[in-house]
Amino acid sequence: MNILVLNGPNLNLLGVREPEIYGRGTYGELCETVRGAAARLGVSVSFFQSNHEGALVDAVQQALGVYDGIVLNPAAYTHTSVALLDAVKAVGIPTVEVHLSDPDAREPFRRVSYVRAACVATVKGMGFAGYVRALEILTGAGA
Ligand code: DQA
Repeated sequence: MNILVLNGPNLNLLGVREPEIYGRGTYGELCETVRGAAARLGVSVSFFQSNHEGALVDAVQQALGVYDGIVLNPAAYTHTSVALLDAVKAVGIPTVEVHLSDPDAREPFRRVSYVRAACVATVKGMGFAGYVRALEILTGAGA
C-alpha cells in the first residue's frame, strides 16, 4: 500500500510556528514519526508539502494510479479551497483529513472545512499522533 502525506501552507514552519498551538516538533520530525508508523504498519509513504493551492491540487491529481490513500492536512486551505475538495472527489482516493490542532475549537472561520465532504474520516487535535491515526484508518489497522 502506497500512501501520500500531503501538507499545506505554513506546515513547513512547524516547530517555529505558534508552538503553543502546533507544538515544538519540526516538519522533518513529523515526517520521521509518520515514517516510523508506516514501517510498523508495513506501508510505504511519500511526503509533499506546499504553500501553494495549485501545487496541492496537482499533487492530488498526480496521486491517481500511484497512491492507495492520502493523509491530507490542507492547513488554511481547509477553510477556503473548493479546488482541493474537487480534486479529492475527482481522484476518488480514500483520503483522511488531519489537523494538528482542533480547528473546531478555535476561531469561527476555522469551523468550515470544504475538503471534509470528500474525506473518509477527520482526525483533529491529536498533534503528530493524528497522522499516525490517519495511517491506521487508511490501512484498516486498529479500526
Ligand atoms: C491546521 C489548522 C488550520 O486551521 C490552520 O490554518 C493550519 C493548521 C492544523 O493542523 O491544526 O495551518 O490545519
